[in-house]
Parts: sequence; structure tokens; C-alpha cells
Amino acid sequence: MWNSFANMASLAGRTVTIVRGEGATVFDAAGRGYLDALASLWYCNVGHGRPELADAAAAQMRQLAGYQTFEPFSNPPAEALARRIADLAPVGPAKVFFTPGGGSDAIDSAAKLTRAYWRAEGQSDKQIIISRAHAYHGMNAYGTTLGGIPANAEPFGPLVTGVEHVPWDDAEALDKLISRLGAGRVGAFFCEPVIGAGGVYLPPEGYLARVQEICRQHDVLFVADEVITGFGRMGSWLASERFALEPDMITTAKGLTSGYAPLGALIVGPRVAEPFWRPGSAEVFRHGYTYSGHPMACAVGLANLDLIEREQLPARVLELESVLAARLASWTPATGRSRR
Ligand SMILES: Cc1ncc(COP(=O)(O)O)c(C=O)c1O
Repeated sequence: MWNSFANMASLAGRTVTIVRGEGATVFDAAGRGYLDALASLWYCNVGHGRPELADAAAAQMRQLAGYQTFEPFSNPPAEALARRIADLAPVGPAKVFFTPGGGSDAIDSAAKLTRAYWRAEGQSDKQIIISRAHAYHGMNAYGTTLGGIPANAEPFGPLVTGVEHVPWDDAEALDKLISRLGAGRVGAFFCEPVIGAGGVYLPPEGYLARVQEICRQHDVLFVADEVITGFGRMGSWLASERFALEPDMITTAKGLTSGYAPLGALIVGPRVAEPFWRPGSAEVFRHGYTYSGHPMACAVGLANLDLIEREQLPARVLELESVLAARLASWTPATGRSRR
């Protein structure tokens, strides 16, 4: 096995083999427990070992484990989950495009849809996508290019063309860059409401509202990458709700199934959907994956959203966030013990 982001030359004898999970604890092969503070890779929103999700997967697998959703094909869990996600997203009436691998696929789908949208609107010059320093948008081709962590892109030579970066915390820099490039050439601005993998940076006060406004003024799509921040982590279903944003598209994955099955969802607002859904339109989004709308993964997603709702996890996050912040602020790293 070749591990992600690992120096395989030095890994021998140092692998940590996780065999079991329960709540916020995972156990290695020797039976040692670890506090899973990162929730695996920021996704296990409902905790490990929830039988409801295993049951949902097993029941759906017995009925119909997998079937494709290209062209006319659909399935009940995919339909139901799309409706559920559309109902909770602050971009309604939304359409939901499923991706199978998670966030990277959602990001590449959003980037391709950005370009396909402007082309369908007769503005095919609006090709440039802008993202931020420190951003992480996954490791597919668009995501690697859009990311703002140079080490992740450098080994791979020229990537996707027509991508520009701005500082992560300066809204006016976005305004200036769009003006310099010409709004007629800029298609979208991609932005994590809270930067995650690039270092965990909260947005400066007023930053998100201002970049959304700048996008509107220049007629540039505003795309929120909520792959980490979605489904409860920010004390609301989506961070866009907490920050009162109304993005044109939202990318999600991870917490959508709490990682019990790989699944992503690109939430598409009415403006971007319109040229493809307008009655009589000949526009086709020529994009999709074998496992888009996978029935088993979608059934797990539905059961996961049920759990989040039943246990009111977003409200619980809000209750606990100041408690956690206070405890972390009094943390003494040298001993690993809290001072309180
Ligand atoms: C904000 C953001 N976007 C996209 C991704 C890529 O998601 P995945 O690794 O599931 O493809 C990640 C992964 O951490 C992420 O944090």
C-alpha cells in the first residue's frame, strides 16, 4: 500500500493501523485508543461505530447495491438525498449533482460547471477561476491548481490554465484582481468559508460578505467549498448559513455521510442550473462519474442526516464551541494537560 502524502522510503515500521472506532475514539491493532480529534480527515461528524449507518448500508445493498445515474437512470436513495440536501442549502431552489469520491470530485465538477455555464450563457471568455492562498480544494486536476499550498502543485508541472490566486484575507485584492483581468474574463471565485487543511484560518470579520458582494458586482460566480464545513461542523447545516452567504454553488462531501461511505454533492443554485434545466434547452453538462448517485452511499447519507437532525448536532456544536475554545486556550502543550 502506497499511503497518501507519505514518504514511503521512511514509513516502514511506523504505520499506525487503525482497526476499530467508537464515538470519538479509534483503536490500533495493539488495542491502544486514540482521541480522534480530527474526526479522521474532518469527516466523522456523528462519531465512529454508529450501527444505524451500517444498517442503512446493508439494507440498501440487499435491495440494490449500485446502479449508475448517467442519462435517464435514477434510484430512490439518490433522489431522496438530493431533495434533502437541496432543502437544507441556503441557495434554493437548488439542484444536486452527486460525486462519488468526495470533495475533489465536487470541486472539479464545480470548476467544469463554471466554465460550461458561462459558455452556455454565451460568455465563453469568462474562463478564469480565482482562489486563495492557503486554500485546499482537493487533489484532482482543478483542485490541485486551485489550491493555495505551493508544495502540493509544484511537482506536477503545468496544471489547469486560467487559474489565479489572491491573498486569503484581503477582499479588496480580489476586487483589484478582477478589475485588472477584466470581469469579462473571470468566471468564478472559489473560497472555503473557513480554511481547513491549509492551516485552519477563520475568515476575517466581514470578509465573506464582502467577497460575495464583489463577486455580485463583477458578475462572477461565488463558490463556497464546504467540504469540511458542511453538515454540522460549524454549528449550522452549512457554514454558508452561519455566515449568511448565498453562494451560486456549494461543494460538499465528508460530513454528508460522516465518512461511512465515500460521497460528495455539488449544490447548484438556480442561476447556474437555469441554462441546463430550462425547458427546451439543448445544453448538457457532459460530466459525471460511474458512482455518481451510488444508491448505497446515498442511503448512508440519508441515515447520517437523520442522525444529525435527531441528535440536533449543529445546535450541540454551537453549545460546545466556546467550551472547547476556552479549554484549548488554557492548554499547556509541554505536558499535554489542560491548566484548568
Ligand atoms: C475544503 C476542501 N475541499 C476539497 C477537499 C477534497 O476532498 P476529498 O479529499 O474528499 O477529495 C478537501 C479535503 O480535505 C477539503 O478540505
